[in-house]
Amino acid sequence: MKVDVLLGLQWGDEGKGKIVDVVTPNYDIIGRFQGGPNAGHTLIFEGQKQVLHTIPSGIFRSNTVNLIGNGVVIDPITLKAEILELEEKGVDVSKNLLISKKAHLILPTHKVLDKYSEEQKGKAKIGSTLKGIGPTYMDKTGRNGIRMGDTSSPKFKDKYDSLVTKHKKMLGDYEYQSLLSEVEKDWFEALDFLKKVPLIDSEHYINQAINDGKKILAEGAQGTLLDIDFGTYPFVTSSNTVTAGTCTGLGVAPNKIGDVIGIFKAYCTRVGSGPFPTELDDEVGENIRKIGHEYGATTGRDRRCGWIDLPALKYAVMINGVTNLSMMKADVLDTFETIQVCTHYIIDGETYDYLPYDIVSTEVTPVYTELKGWNKDLTALRSMDDAPKEFLDYIKYLEGELNVPIGIVSVGPDREQTIIRN
Ligand code: GDP
Ligand code: IMO
Ligand code: MG
Repeated sequence: MKVDVLLGLQWGDEGKGKIVDVVTPNYDIIGRFQGGPNAGHTLIFEGQKQVLHTIPSGIFRSNTVNLIGNGVVIDPITLKAEILELEEKGVDVSKNLLISKKAHLILPTHKVLDKYSEEQKGKAKIGSTLKGIGPTYMDKTGRNGIRMGDTSSPKFKDKYDSLVTKHKKMLGDYEYQSLLSEVEKDWFEALDFLKKVPLIDSEHYINQAINDGKKILAEGAQGTLLDIDFGTYPFVTSSNTVTAGTCTGLGVAPNKIGDVIGIFKAYCTRVGSGPFPTELDDEVGENIRKIGHEYGATTGRDRRCGWIDLPALKYAVMINGVTNLSMMKADVLDTFETIQVCTHYIIDGETYDYLPYDIVSTEVTPVYTELKGWNKDLTALRSMDDAPKEFLDYIKYLEGELNVPIGIVSVGPDREQTIIRN
């Protein structure tokens, strides 16, 4: 069997967690391939809500194995907290969670470095979640990182001390001691706690599973426009959030990639700094935020809201080789008389129907097409046969523009509020 991929096509928070949870019964293994606790994936079912940061969103289905792949960066403190929360809800994580030996560790000093880096940038800050993601990936590519597999080595403490010494030199006279004193103890305790989760050679495990005909889904974090190579650089995260990230982040060969499910909202949001051509700094944007509860699942920050952006979505479809789309949060637009869709940008008097190299330092004016809203409550919709015409028109229009079928439509946060079209 080939490995299917599910990932975000916008700036994250598209609803990936919800759809992974919905489709998990079709899979034997769910694997995260990049990112870390900067992610916040929300699952809602049977009246309970769970936000997952590092653990894959298949964890509530007891027959599914959940793998934290080599491309993920792990903060033992947040992972321990996440496991404890799940255990309180009766999920026996030690039975169906695995961690790659090659996943890198986020040290307490990585988080301090993240904060320091953002403070140094001042107004140009990325708006990082401050979870230590950037500094950890920097140490990984700089060949200084520490991996989960190192924790059992007798040299582990030496490695840790030597990396921390390096970090302290980088921090100079920045006041870091108060940020570290308590945390370091908790960090080592959490690492000890994590010993109950098996550490494995995950690339062998995945490839064996592929050969054995197991069904595998790779779960992306963040979104395509936050990708380190293809996102709105430098306002991005520090990993490859796109389909190719599955190959490096789980050890899956490119010819073993199957379907690619691209998740997008019926509008668009972004949290943190950086360009957002269709952002609405007005009452309409505020309405979307309120109706859609657009507040960060990890940091609680207001998410910036705006209309759907086709040039950016088309780019994301291309980069990821998307074969199937899932449209989320259509219900948030239920009360809108009209819906705007950005079809082009105007930059320096020129019209663009694609995402150009630089939308960071130039003024981008979005050009919109107006579609009629459906003006009906979609939250109880369970079959497209009962869908309002204007809603069907919206879907048809987007499918025509993106040239990919919308196989799943989500009309509310609950697992049940999902319509599978194909
Ligand atoms: P992720 O990071 O991509 O998993 O997405 P988040 O969990 O950060 O953000 C998505 C938010 O939208 C969560 O609060 C979900 O519960 C919620 N959500 C998901 N799908 C829908 C939907 O179709 N309608 C509404 N109203 N909310 C949704
Ligand atoms: P999920 O998986 C939305 C954003 C941050 C910031 C930038 C860099 O829930 O969709 P980082 O902490 O990675 O250095 O932050 O990326 N960001 C996200 N935005 N959803 C996420 O994850 C995000 N993870 C990081 O807000 O702008
Ligand atoms: Mg999220």
